[in-house]
Amino acid sequence: MNILFVCSEVFPLIKTGGLADVSYSLPRALADLGHQVTVVLPGYRSVRARLGEPDQRRSLPDDFLRSDIRVAEYASSPVGVPLLLVESDSLFDRDGGPYERSSGDPWPDNADRFAQFCRAVVSWVVAAEQAGAGYQVVHCNDWQTGLIPALLSLHESAVKTLFTIHNLAYQGVFDYATFQHLQLPDTWWHLDALEFYGNLSFLKAGIVFADWVTTVSPTYADEILREPAACGMGGLLQHHQNKLVGILNGADYEIWNPQTDDHILFHFDRDSLEQKLKNKLDLQRISGLRLSKSAPLIGLVSRLVEQKGIDWVVSAMTATQEHKVQWVILGSGTPHYEQQLLELAQANPKTVSVTIGYDEELAHRIEAGSDLFAMPSRYEPCGLNQIYSLRYGTLPIVRRTGGLADTVVNVDELSLEQGTATGFVFEEPAAAAFTDTVLRAIAMYSRRKTWQRIQQTAMAQCFDWQHSAQSYLELYQQDHQQDHQQE
Ligand code: ADP
Ligand code: GLC
Repeated sequence: MNILFVCSEVFPLIKTGGLADVSYSLPRALADLGHQVTVVLPGYRSVRARLGEPDQRRSLPDDFLRSDIRVAEYASSPVGVPLLLVESDSLFDRDGGPYERSSGDPWPDNADRFAQFCRAVVSWVVAAEQAGAGYQVVHCNDWQTGLIPALLSLHESAVKTLFTIHNLAYQGVFDYATFQHLQLPDTWWHLDALEFYGNLSFLKAGIVFADWVTTVSPTYADEILREPAACGMGGLLQHHQNKLVGILNGADYEIWNPQTDDHILFHFDRDSLEQKLKNKLDLQRISGLRLSKSAPLIGLVSRLVEQKGIDWVVSAMTATQEHKVQWVILGSGTPHYEQQLLELAQANPKTVSVTIGYDEELAHRIEAGSDLFAMPSRYEPCGLNQIYSLRYGTLPIVRRTGGLADTVVNVDELSLEQGTATGFVFEEPAAAAFTDTVLRAIAMYSRRKTWQRIQQTAMAQCFDWQHSAQSYLELYQQDHQQDHQQE
């Protein structure tokens, strides 16, 4: 098949979270299965600087597009498959993040930026189809691409659309004046189209108009039908349930593999866990913590936002201080959480290390050197770090929600007996439940033999992309939504 994969971030060019990892790995997995895949991304300044001059630049025939919009084509790129950039000096050539200024405030023209991006992609797709060398499917990701299925429906096109929700809480909501400004068809200001409680929602556009809607784990696909995970969209998703599918993300084991990881000092596998211990000492050293083989070391790498249960982590750090436990934390996000964490680190320099910022290498060293990985998310569409942690024998502590529930098997009597335990899972969305689970994990840590057995089971888990890519292909190949309904 010929597939166009549309996203707003992709590793290693631009990344704020797991979407970038997925946008790197899934297209490659599809290409490995023999398909033609092209990734398309906005031409952010930093990305253009990194890539240099394209093989070709083309303008697009669309009256609704800004005059400075071009599509730059790269036959090869660090993404590993052919890449297109939608360039516009006025929209994308600026310092700061893909969605926000450096100060953390969203770009005030985000609606315009991503609406123009969507229009450009649709114009490109339609032109390719008319030239007879078109795509069979356009795979869209998150609200930034939500207008694509809607805009494509205005054309006589046979191209199918699949829309993946990576996080339902980010809905691309703008007011009515913005809807008018974007010059979208008036008929779309309707409950059955883009209107969402008196506003415009890009995410809703994707859900309503795409042939298929997927999300990134089976459990999350079920959770979003109801509150609180539904974020106001439960009714809409129930209405479209016949085209909603949960497909678990994979991990890229070329990048996240303790046997080959370039970022860590000591490579290891299931049979050489003593090397992992050396990584632990290295992590303690670079983090300024007391060197100790026996103190349980808990790592965390995350966006520091409410979703991730950072307030529960702060509580647990305080509540477990007498237990010789150490914490290494890397992340950035809400200033309030950053501040609280930094204060804890200042007060406990030998047991708590906090790095505010984004650091690829440190993320790998935390995965390799920690004994446990904290991921007590309130909700988690899939989550990638717990999957990476499993491969590094770093037992995850997670809440039973979304993709965390689908990837971690709780340590209990039965799972220990059956040899299936891989981590520590709790149910209740509360600080005390997380703290209790940290204490439970610490207690288990002193049972060395059992601990090693759990590590080995965790490291043997395989959540690679091949299987999930196959599931996407099956959807791409189903004729359209009605066919599915008739099954
Ligand atoms: P989300 O997409 O909700 O942020 P995921 O677990 O799916 O959560 O993916 C997060 C990705 O971003 C992982 O690859 C993780 O290692 C990476 N990451 C998050 N914060 C940082 C950071 N501060 N430094 C380096 N990598 C980070
Ligand atoms: C989102 C979700 C995360 C998921 C990632 C990639 O950012 O919060 O759970 O793993 O997208 O799909």
